[in-house]
Amino acid sequence: MQYGPFARKLRTYGKTELKNLKEVLNRGRLSIFYNDGGMVDRFQKAFAKYTGAKIALARVNGMGALAEAISVSGAGVGTEVLCDPVVHFGALAALYYNAVPRFVDIEPDTYCMDPKSLEANITPRARAVIVTHLWGLPARIDEIRRICKKHKLFLIEDCAHAVGARWKDKHVGTFGNLGMFSFQEFKQLSTGDGAMVTIQDKKLADNMENVWAFSGESPRIMTLNWRMNEMTAAIGLAQLGKVDSILRNTYNVTLKIFNDAIAGCRWLKPRLVPKEAIQTGYWFACKWEGDKFGLNYSRFKQLNEKLDIGLRFGFNQTAPYEFDFFHKAQAYGHQCPNKCPFYLKNSRYVYRKGLCPVVEDVMPRLVTVNLIFLSIAEAKRMAEKLGKAINMMDRG
Ligand SMILES: Cc1ncc(COP(=O)(O)O)c(C=O)c1O
Repeated sequence: MQYGPFARKLRTYGKTELKNLKEVLNRGRLSIFYNDGGMVDRFQKAFAKYTGAKIALARVNGMGALAEAISVSGAGVGTEVLCDPVVHFGALAALYYNAVPRFVDIEPDTYCMDPKSLEANITPRARAVIVTHLWGLPARIDEIRRICKKHKLFLIEDCAHAVGARWKDKHVGTFGNLGMFSFQEFKQLSTGDGAMVTIQDKKLADNMENVWAFSGESPRIMTLNWRMNEMTAAIGLAQLGKVDSILRNTYNVTLKIFNDAIAGCRWLKPRLVPKEAIQTGYWFACKWEGDKFGLNYSRFKQLNEKLDIGLRFGFNQTAPYEFDFFHKAQAYGHQCPNKCPFYLKNSRYVYRKGLCPVVEDVMPRLVTVNLIFLSIAEAKRMAEKLGKAINMMDRG
């Protein structure tokens, strides 16, 4: 395992969670209509207020919410969805709804989607974009939104890592047509599993709500049942009240500890935080540039083992389009989407090495630490060892 040492227990669930759960049980309804004053209703309203979104809809998990986002975006058979190439979640959601994921390259210093590459990848078949605010750092979302507006593309913001992150003082998830926040256990706000979708357009939200209720009306749009239950929302509502202090007192602190540890190192380049962005702690990441100084990467990796630092090298082993998964036809009838006749009529997008040269260069150079289960004391110990490794490398 390349993960750092995890603290056994970092999150605290206490009186507020218990009080909320008790209230749900006393009420005797574990899954209820969204707008009836229950926990889901309250969690949604509180989350909308927290992010500044018009509407928030609670969902069962992040992948379900992303799949739903694709289904309401207008993407499907014969269309393309533009996705990030560092993490693969958006691409999987596109594939699930039979659309072709088309990978957009990243910026070399922020590791987030490069708006120039986005524009260069837009074809007449493009319908939607999924942009990830990777590891707590907002992508250049106003430029990405401008491009989406120009080309009439549905913009989905994957904010799974980005509770509290802002661009020009506006919370991420409020720029696009739809934002998605995951509350899976490894996220900044955990409900075990769970998610929230943020939306600015009431009609879209009404359509999405209309379907889950199975109210006897014909569903207005193609989606399934991704709703959250009351117990999950009871925990979420309690955790939301604590999340700013968790970020301020833990994740933002541990992020700074690692940034400070590499400050002054010539060959570990810190991640660029654009002046418009407020990053929140989720993963620490920097980039190995030792080759420019004649240093040996393998030696640095060996020191990580020897000193038991707990750094992770690379993120995925390759860009997702090099995964076997994307080379096989996975979706309906095992020929969609890539070999789908509706798609082939237009042209074919081939997953091959070289599609996103920047991500292929950056991915193996990434030196990262997952901050979610790391206490401040552990982060300090790791950072101290990292400092030692830097000195040993510099001494030759
Ligand atoms: C960027 C990103 N998007 C989506 C997901 C999926 O979220 P969930 O685990 O809630 O389904 C994850 C989970 O790790 C993620 O990191």
